[in-house]
Amino acid sequence: MINFVTKLQTLFTLFIILLLCISIYITINSQTNSTNKKEYDNTFENTYVLKKELEDAAQRIIELEQRLQSLETRIPKKYAEVTFLNYLKKRRILITGGAGFVGSHLVDTLMLQGHDLIVVDNFFTGRKQNVEQWIGHENFELIHHDIVNPLFIEVDQIYHLASPASPPHYMQNPVKTIKTNTLGTINMLGLARRVNATILIASTSEVYGDPDKHPQSESYWGHVNPIGPRACYDEGKRVSETLTYAYAKQENMNVRVARIFNTYGPRMHMNDGRVVSNFILQALQDHEITVYGSGNQTRSFQYVSDLVDGLIALMESNYTLPVNIGNPVEHTINEFATIIKELVGGNSAIKHVAEVEDDPQRRKPDIARAKKYLKWEPKVSLNVGLQKTVNYFKKELKLFRFVHSNSVTII
Ligand SMILES: NC(=O)c1ccc[n+]([C@@H]2O[C@H](COP(=O)([O-])OP(=O)(O)OC[C@H]3O[C@@H](n4cnc5c(N)ncnc54)[C@H](O)[C@@H]3O)[C@@H](O)[C@H]2O)c1
Ligand SMILES: *[C@@H]1O[C@H](CO)[C@@H](O)[C@H](O)[C@H]1NC(C)=O
Ligand SMILES: *[C@@H]1O[C@H](CO)[C@@H](O)[C@H](O)[C@H]1NC(C)=O
Ligand SMILES: *[C@@H]1O[C@H](CO)[C@@H](O)[C@H](O)[C@H]1NC(C)=O
Repeated sequence: MINFVTKLQTLFTLFIILLLCISIYITINSQTNSTNKKEYDNTFENTYVLKKELEDAAQRIIELEQRLQSLETRIPKKYAEVTFLNYLKKRRILITGGAGFVGSHLVDTLMLQGHDLIVVDNFFTGRKQNVEQWIGHENFELIHHDIVNPLFIEVDQIYHLASPASPPHYMQNPVKTIKTNTLGTINMLGLARRVNATILIASTSEVYGDPDKHPQSESYWGHVNPIGPRACYDEGKRVSETLTYAYAKQENMNVRVARIFNTYGPRMHMNDGRVVSNFILQALQDHEITVYGSGNQTRSFQYVSDLVDGLIALMESNYTLPVNIGNPVEHTINEFATIIKELVGGNSAIKHVAEVEDDPQRRKPDIARAKKYLKWEPKVSLNVGLQKTVNYFKKELKLFRFVHSNSVTII
């Protein structure tokens, strides 16, 4: 909207300047036509000044035209076509952390379905670019707000995703991470209660900590160190879940809890620190792909569109207990290295280095509950998902000439 107004103003200014130039030109012409011998010197001087002004004006017009052009390139000329929903079906949906990796994909899907979206984000780890394709759309609103402070708006559903998610991000300011997951969650639960909205909390597989059971099902209570470096996040999310069920019981609210496992895809953070981003960046820059230990240890990753489908299925279901959303297919680190090397096609060698201490521990979801109650399971294969992610990283690297330090350890 603001962009549109600016554009109108610029156009209007241009128009006024054009009128001015025409009038100046006419004045000069009429003056030169009625040249009088006596006033010759004077008129000549005037004409000279006016000519100079005219040239200046012409120069300004060129500059304004250039500015207008650059402004126009920043306004998306076309939005993707969204489904039309009547007022009975159209929901007002709040997504906290909607400018982040997962949130922005959720925004895309719900926008295309035709709902009214409100994104609240403080841009700690998210960025406007992730949702710029919708800025200005009549169904879309972006609010710069920190959820540690209360928020009063009218909505029907809340997807509460705001929280830094990767270790380098949440360890950067542990106290803030805890505040976001406690005070922030209280604020969102309070909002949901006031307006009787259904609220979905994005929890994490980290609530299982360093598990002594494989795979992890929702009934497992976890094995978490309350004072370790990851505690701000793990315990923050555990309190978040506790708060959710306390509110649900005491205030008779509609709640959903998604325990999200490792996710990858376009718009994921370059410095995420995990194996997918590390390997892709190393391969794209022709650096060695470093595998710690034998490379026989496994990881499971889900593609972001699978997660988005799972979150929406959970919100639309009537299931109130926690649900694991993740991909149970395990791949060895060696497999990741080989597939990524093939997809990128560079000259990177795969190098095995000494095992790092504290190398995790498998984490693999048991998704029986999601299959049974949500009729959901992941669909995107590793090859397809990685190809899309590699394409995204290629573009990002070109844009920012990102310098990746090879010393990042695989977490
Ligand atoms: N990506 C994963 O593998 C994964 C795994 C498990 C759980 N999750 C959970 O999913 C959610 C989204 O994760 P993501 O990967 O998109 O992370 P992300 O960092 O890309 O997105 C989080 C968003 O929340 C915003 N945010 C953080 N603190 C805020 C605050 N106080 N107020 C307002 N906004 C704030 C950030 O700016 C960012 O846009 C998180 O809650 C995360 O814990 C993600
Ligand atoms: C709250 O919403 C639910 C549907 O999600 C509805 O059944 C219930 O009647 C509502 N409660 C109030 C007080 O409006
Ligand atoms: C890793 O797996 C490969 C092939 O699957 C095997 O040859 C090798 O011995 C394994 N290494 C370790 C340390 O288990
Ligand atoms: C929940 O929804 C399913 C169908 O999706 C239905 O069979 C079941 O009875 C519902 N449960 C409750 C408690 O409403």
